[in-house]
Amino acid sequence: MTPDHAFAIVIMAAGKGTRLKSKRPKVLHEIGGKPLVAHVISAAGKIVPAANIYVIIGHQAESVREAVKHTGVNFVLQSPQNGTGHALQCAREQVQHHDHLLVLSGDVPLIREETIRKLRDFHLAQKAAMTILTAEPADPFGYGRVLRASSTSDEVTAIVEQKDLKPKQEKVGEINSGIYAFSSKVLFANIDRLTSNNAQKEFYLTDMAALLVGEKARVVALKAEDSAEILGANTLVELSELDAAMRMRKCRELMANGVSIYKPETCVIDSQVEIGADTIIEPFVQVLGNTHIGSDCRIRSYSVISDSHIENGVTIKPGCVIDQARISAQAILGPYSHLRPGSEIGEGAHIGNFVETKKVRMGKGSKANHLTYLGDAEIGAGVNVGAGTITCNYDGAHKHVTTIEDGAFIGSDSTLVAPVRIGKGAYTAAGSTITDDVPADSLAVGRARQAVKEGWVKARREKKVKTST
Ligand code: UD1
Ligand code: MG
Repeated sequence: MTPDHAFAIVIMAAGKGTRLKSKRPKVLHEIGGKPLVAHVISAAGKIVPAANIYVIIGHQAESVREAVKHTGVNFVLQSPQNGTGHALQCAREQVQHHDHLLVLSGDVPLIREETIRKLRDFHLAQKAAMTILTAEPADPFGYGRVLRASSTSDEVTAIVEQKDLKPKQEKVGEINSGIYAFSSKVLFANIDRLTSNNAQKEFYLTDMAALLVGEKARVVALKAEDSAEILGANTLVELSELDAAMRMRKCRELMANGVSIYKPETCVIDSQVEIGADTIIEPFVQVLGNTHIGSDCRIRSYSVISDSHIENGVTIKPGCVIDQARISAQAILGPYSHLRPGSEIGEGAHIGNFVETKKVRMGKGSKANHLTYLGDAEIGAGVNVGAGTITCNYDGAHKHVTTIEDGAFIGSDSTLVAPVRIGKGAYTAAGSTITDDVPADSLAVGRARQAVKEGWVKARREKKVKTST
């Protein structure tokens, strides 16, 4: 077996994506919550180390580089972008020392590691100069067509682009996936012979097929078992189809690992999300970004969870919005809780309806069940926060911290003007405005004393009757 380091993977990602009609470069459009090119890089990274991956960038090169440089791949600059053949010409200097190249397209993101491996092995077994991964999708329109020497042969005579098809070639159902294996020596010995004599006036990598056949080199095709995997994204409609396919693939993977997803077609789960077994995801839930959800949780409908860490046994009732939060085991949230960045909810704690939290640490078993804003607060264990409580954390210039110690009881409709500390086991009376620290085990009453004017209404009523008669 050829060692892995003999292979390099080249990912073509320099094109503009004119057909998307978007300012953003095509390969940075997202499916499954990640840019197209990032999906291709992750598949490639399972086959060769990042040091053997070369991403060809050109259109808005810097934003593409920025988006994926954390992966440790190499970059090749293609400027201007004169076609896929030209892209490989630009990569020659950096990649020609590798014996074989696997060439992937940055806009064919559903490709799986297994399929790339099969292409590599087939290429080696066939001792081919060029091996083309092909498929027979329901609708081949728009793709380059692969012409075989005969219907039973592995050998290819040419690839013809959609715009260059002769009428009788339009019936050919086998398409070029834009994914290839090459012997680098043969590729680079011939690549300068490509011409741009075609409908798009570009140097097509696809023309290498006929060119190499003319040199008596072996050019073969391997048909992918599942054509869905090699679909490209050239328009926003195609992109939405790939997004749906990728998310369904993700849901299937999760379900295969013990997660129940009711009506998976209504859920939006990003590709890097992790969810533990025996968790239930109800319809119309979104789980995005780098989110981890433990086992035995229940995520009820219409909740949107991004970049958060949720431990085991957590219940999230309908309609919660949770962003960059950490939620400990057995906590109960919602319905309609809004957890903003920096919310850390303790074990078994309850956050109820219309409660907003931001930069809050809430201790074990504490509760804030109704209509409350908790911002910049340190809240201990066993605290009860009454309905309508507000931490007044902002004085117009600076943010200040509210500290509520273990076992404190915050009466309904308290406004806690930060910086302020409520001591261990202390109470605040309902309707209080608390501006000074409350010592442990004390009651703070911060409201005007109630006055009752007995008979006042009756007297007023009688006065009215007199004047009207
Ligand atoms: C290409 C193939 C076509 C195949 C299809 C599969 C060619 C000429 N045609 O067509 O046979 O069926 O993919 O999806 O290759 N790119 C560069 N530099 C360039 C031009 C493109 O890096 O100068 C990159 C693009 O960013 C993209 C990939 O190469 O990721 C393919 O380019 P694209 O313009 O999408 O080619 P298709 O028309 O889809
Ligand atoms: Mg394309």
